[in-house]
Amino acid sequence: MANPLPKHPQLRGNYAPINFEATCHDLVVEGSLPEQLSGSLYRIGPNPKFVPEQGYHWFFGAGMVHAFHFAEGRVDYLNRWARTPKFEAEWSAGGSLPMRLMTDPDTGAIQSDRRNGLANTHIIWHANQLLALEEGSHPFSLAPESLDSLGYGHYAGDLAGAMTAHPKIDPRTGELHGFGYMSDAVGSPAMTYHVVDAQGGVKRSDTFIAPYAAMVHDFAVTRDYVLFPVFPLTCDLTRVPHLGSPFAFESEAGAFIGVLERGAPVSAIRWIEAPVCFIFHYLNAWNEGSVITFDAIDFPVAPNFPDINGQLPGFDEAQGKLTRWRLDVRTSQIEREVILNVPAEFPRIDDRYAMQHHRHGFLATASTRQRGDGGLFHEISHFDFETGNQQRWDAGEGNGVSEPVFVSRGAAEGEGWLLATVYDAERHASSLVVLDAMALADGPIAIARLDHRIPHGFHGSWRDSA
Ligand SMILES: [Fe+2]
Repeated sequence: MANPLPKHPQLRGNYAPINFEATCHDLVVEGSLPEQLSGSLYRIGPNPKFVPEQGYHWFFGAGMVHAFHFAEGRVDYLNRWARTPKFEAEWSAGGSLPMRLMTDPDTGAIQSDRRNGLANTHIIWHANQLLALEEGSHPFSLAPESLDSLGYGHYAGDLAGAMTAHPKIDPRTGELHGFGYMSDAVGSPAMTYHVVDAQGGVKRSDTFIAPYAAMVHDFAVTRDYVLFPVFPLTCDLTRVPHLGSPFAFESEAGAFIGVLERGAPVSAIRWIEAPVCFIFHYLNAWNEGSVITFDAIDFPVAPNFPDINGQLPGFDEAQGKLTRWRLDVRTSQIEREVILNVPAEFPRIDDRYAMQHHRHGFLATASTRQRGDGGLFHEISHFDFETGNQQRWDAGEGNGVSEPVFVSRGAAEGEGWLLATVYDAERHASSLVVLDAMALADGPIAIARLDHRIPHGFHGSWRDSA
């Protein structure tokens, strides 16, 4: 029997999961959907069917996928859980089960089962596969139209360790670059660099040693370099009894960026000392010679995690800002500056400009964030790095916007639409909005209404129709 969910801030309001799978044909649309918008938007986030009585964290809820299929000015919708082995076992048991850990009989080292994960963080289309990603596990495949779960194993046994939820796809070659952390054991500084070709074949999956064991959510790739920034959200299993978690922000450990020339062996990675801060997400990166520029959302410390004394960050410390970094790998000099002074997250670009000089960035922002608003972002913003102008669409305070996903319409960078889901607190239901990426202030071109909520989630992608 499924029990009521425990009281927890990340199980309230629009963080609360929904308890059904639905298929909705031809959604009611206000405005009109562009005829050329033809393909699918996939979104994913935590939507636990069961949670443990103690110690739930938003990051550890079972993944649910929401798909919007667009064709000929109409849109259909469906949502399905990613039915991983862990999910199926909980479904059968009627309750939450702990992560399956494997212990090395010789060393006692503990490793997560890479094929028993949550599949809850990002969903991408690569090499004709729809892959749900979560950084402790292997990619999990789903059918692109029906969202039927197909399972783990797309990369066979070729992937060493786990794969980040934020791999980068090279638009010139279709090659996918990814990484994993704590590759050989929980609490280990071993990381892995993966390269997968455009057909889905693993070209390399090489292990290296980082300065310390830490949670590493995202990384940056340019045409010539791969960067592995490591910030001190360190992992130490001895913390579990007093902090309830092995992860804590440990400023004293310092911060480092691993720099590797693309194609070079991982033994050539050089670690450059960096300012202590915390980054979940990078917008993009490019290099001109030895100078790498990357844009990221910088936090003073890791939000939602304690320091090593168990103290959670204050309100101001938990706000991330769009920040531009310049790193000269020849001199190891780093400069950085905040370029948009409002709380922001979920940065995206026109993906055709990945790994090269971009002009336009898109992100969720909160110009008027209040304490206690549940961490919502209520605006979609466009930042023009050339003019320094921000244009935004405000969904209304109390409402929540998802990450905006860019869909191209024309050849020029930024020429296209942004698609995002919006939670409307008054309706207690969500909508999908279509915005002109270069004219956000004009408001949505089309709003497709759902009768139910899409809980606050993480990431998503577009797949053009075949
Ligand atoms: Fe992420």
